[in-house]
Amino acid sequence: MTQSHLPEQMTAVFLEAYSGASGLQTGQRPVPQPGPKEVLVKVAASAINPSDLSFLQGRYGFKKPLPTIPGFEGSGTVVAVGKATGLMGRFLLGKRVACVTQQTGDGLWAEYTAVSLNYALPLLGAVGLEQGAMSVVNPLTAVALIELAQKAGHKTVLNTAGASALGLMLHRLGQQEGVEVVNIVRRAEQVAQLQQQGMRHVLNSSSATFDEALRDLCHQQKIRLAFDAIAGDMPGQLLAAMPNHSRVTVYGGLSQQAVKIDPTGLIFQDKSVNGFWLTPWVGQKNMLQSVLMWRRAQTLLLSALKTEVRARYPLAQAQQAVADYEATMSGGKVLLVMGE
Ligand SMILES: NC(=O)c1ccc[n+]([C@@H]2O[C@H](COP(=O)([O-])OP(=O)(O)OC[C@H]3O[C@@H](n4cnc5c(N)ncnc54)[C@H](OP(=O)(O)O)[C@@H]3O)[C@@H](O)[C@H]2O)c1
Repeated sequence: MTQSHLPEQMTAVFLEAYSGASGLQTGQRPVPQPGPKEVLVKVAASAINPSDLSFLQGRYGFKKPLPTIPGFEGSGTVVAVGKATGLMGRFLLGKRVACVTQQTGDGLWAEYTAVSLNYALPLLGAVGLEQGAMSVVNPLTAVALIELAQKAGHKTVLNTAGASALGLMLHRLGQQEGVEVVNIVRRAEQVAQLQQQGMRHVLNSSSATFDEALRDLCHQQKIRLAFDAIAGDMPGQLLAAMPNHSRVTVYGGLSQQAVKIDPTGLIFQDKSVNGFWLTPWVGQKNMLQSVLMWRRAQTLLLSALKTEVRARYPLAQAQQAVADYEATMSGGKVLLVMGE
């Protein structure tokens, strides 16, 4: 079922080698047909996230056969639906949606993409397509991490890469939910920026007194949970600073380094490390929980879960867009925009 006449060809970005931005080429290919239980989305915008950078370098949790179209998260309008999409397909036709792509098939850095019916999430009227393009990965991760903290009874938690889009969301959502987030950044100007946004405790990991200041704070405030986006030495530093019976949950690998930890704390102080990935966390929710969570996240997209946009590029400049984002990750997202 098609809403309107579709072109035969489209512009798309292809990853031809797992070598980062240099492996990208923009070209033409036929507009895909939605398969069974899929919808065809005319893509409006797609965010570049750290997970995309990892994927382009072949360092994500999975690889796809090349060439492939990258892009895990975006938004657009449903313009056709495949077989076996039933009532839901009819409901979605013509609707604006946020969408995410998965382990198989192509991604969202294209004018059109076919996505599973389950991964086309209708947007509320108040949510624009640009916010919609950044509405799943980080917002739901913020919801998940704050929920993990609450369920385990933590009133204060640490978070690294604190000037990231997700770090800002964690702070604002935590304020609403009664969980204080102590954000850790790596540059002095980020400390000032975050303090201006109302954060009481911001620590600079590049400061000579970082380890001591972190240890004092963790012991004064009895902080026993840390969320880490960096890996490398950072989880070990966090664990060393926190009291006995503490945990670090690693959710990102921005340093591109393996986690290094002194085993003493693990053995003698009941300290531990685990990982977090949004995909299985969402998969554990039942249908009703997922619908309610998506609705709530959307109502917060213009406040606690808002993302700033720093730059916009057309598909033809995908290489520059990725290079720009890699060079400056703080201060807002870089979007690929295809138009509505
Ligand atoms: N596990 C999951 O399911 C999941 C889901 C969502 C997000 N994430 C992770 O969450 C993290 C934040 O994502 P985002 O989209 O919010 O990022 P973002 O807005 O692009 O910001 C990235 C931040 O990381 C900082 N950074 C980059 N490399 C760093 C390093 N080696 N050491 C310290 N800081 C570094 C940057 O600071 P500078 O300005 O100083 O470079 C920037 O503030 C990423 O690791 C991402 O993979 C994980």
